Amino acid sequence: MAQIKFFGSENMPLEMHKVRIIQKLNLPPIDDRLTSITEAGNNTFLLKNRNVFLDMLTDSGTNAMSDKQLAAMMTADDSYAGSETFFRLEAKIQEIFGTKYFLPAHQGRACESLIAQVLVTHPGQVVPMNYHFTTTKAHISRMGGGIEEIIVDEGLVAQSDENFKGNMNIDVLKKMIAENKSKIAFVRLEAGTNLIGGQPISMANIREVSQICRQAGVYLVFDASLLADNLYFIKTREAAYENTPIVDIMREIGALADVLYFSARKLGCARGGGICLHNDDLMMKFRELIPLYEGFLTYGGMSVREMEALTVGLDETLDMDMIAQAPQFIGHMVDKFTAAGIPVVTPAGGLGCHINAMEFLSHIPQERYPAGALAAALYIISGVRGMERGTLSEQRNPDGTEPLAHMELVRLALPRRVFTLSQVEYVVDRVKWLYQNRELIGGLKFTEEPKILRFFFGRLAPDSDWQTKLVAKFKEDFGDSL
Ligand code: F0G
Repeated sequence: MAQIKFFGSENMPLEMHKVRIIQKLNLPPIDDRLTSITEAGNNTFLLKNRNVFLDMLTDSGTNAMSDKQLAAMMTADDSYAGSETFFRLEAKIQEIFGTKYFLPAHQGRACESLIAQVLVTHPGQVVPMNYHFTTTKAHISRMGGGIEEIIVDEGLVAQSDENFKGNMNIDVLKKMIAENKSKIAFVRLEAGTNLIGGQPISMANIREVSQICRQAGVYLVFDASLLADNLYFIKTREAAYENTPIVDIMREIGALADVLYFSARKLGCARGGGICLHNDDLMMKFRELIPLYEGFLTYGGMSVREMEALTVGLDETLDMDMIAQAPQFIGHMVDKFTAAGIPVVTPAGGLGCHINAMEFLSHIPQERYPAGALAAALYIISGVRGMERGTLSEQRNPDGTEPLAHMELVRLALPRRVFTLSQVEYVVDRVKWLYQNRELIGGLKFTEEPKILRFFFGRLAPDSDWQTKLVAKFKEDFGDSL
């Protein structure tokens, strides 16, 4: 996406693609939206999409595919073993990451399950990482391991002007290795650090972490699920890489990691995933598990059509016009919110725009889940579905205490190439109204709390009649508008 300047008006992102297939949307009236969120236990994961206007829950598996991806799907070679489709995908992965082996899996968390099974060899081991992702942590814990988040201090400062808030704290990593290397199962770096607002890592940081791991003989595992956005930020924020072709950056990352895995629901705008690696012994260990849990080695749980779409999608990741669209839309949203004094994570990251609910709803204690309450409130007043990324997304400690999250965020994901700028403006408008009426919003409490990954299925209720008051105020201000 070129930096195109506008004459006589503010600059804004300009789409370098056109829309050729559309899906009709439905915006139900506010009373129906209140009913829907109540039926969904105030959990946006449990809303039915038919009741959602703009689905900003996630970018996972919801990115718009290109004409070339759809065309490639028609050329898929259906066979259980030895499919030509697999070899095309494998060749593309070898080309862009320079890795020797590719093991397919049905999605990102399947890779995480296999990585935890192979590399967490005994209970009590620890995995230092820049920051956890929900499913990553769950799989490591399931194998008896623990995680240690060693992100740079600035990573947890919601509003900042640090360009690479996803970087790992090098001093802490060195200290951990020096003090207790034998306890470390592996070191993990996550591109486009999801839970702290889609914040990128710099190449300088990846290189340093890799050097330290190699010297210490510790494996470096790289989660490339959100790499597309991270590549855009490396190109635009890290001066040394401004003129480096994207493929060279990807190959450098591929060479710095021992194991690289990804969710193709994000990277490559398809659905699936896989593990890329160089080492023969490690490959043999992973390979045994693929047919057991995923499928034969030439599909690993993916449909051949999705694999064809992924091959093309990965190739399109090398095109700046393609990877710039989401970060530029997110940047536009973040600028609008910042200008209106609404607390959002800055600098703008990838994946989505992240509202800082801790500040937006400073009157709600974390035990009453401000980010969950804000996501429910936003759905009620706009039909927009965001995702809670805060204490609700954490897992209760074994002793029953609540681990309060570092941040309370509502993520408004921007699946790639899906929404138009006027839809983004609608969201900005409704969030501005909500901010002015934020005192009306109250907290939530659990009515049903699953033990593992509770945010997916948990049900909650408002802790007062705040939702009916919010609806009344909306009607007062917007009349019969949807
Ligand atoms: N790693 C990261 C950084 C992710 O963001 C995700 C998924 C995964 C691994 C797991 O991949 O979904 O294919 O199994 N993130 C989605 C999200 C769920 O909505 O952010 P998966």
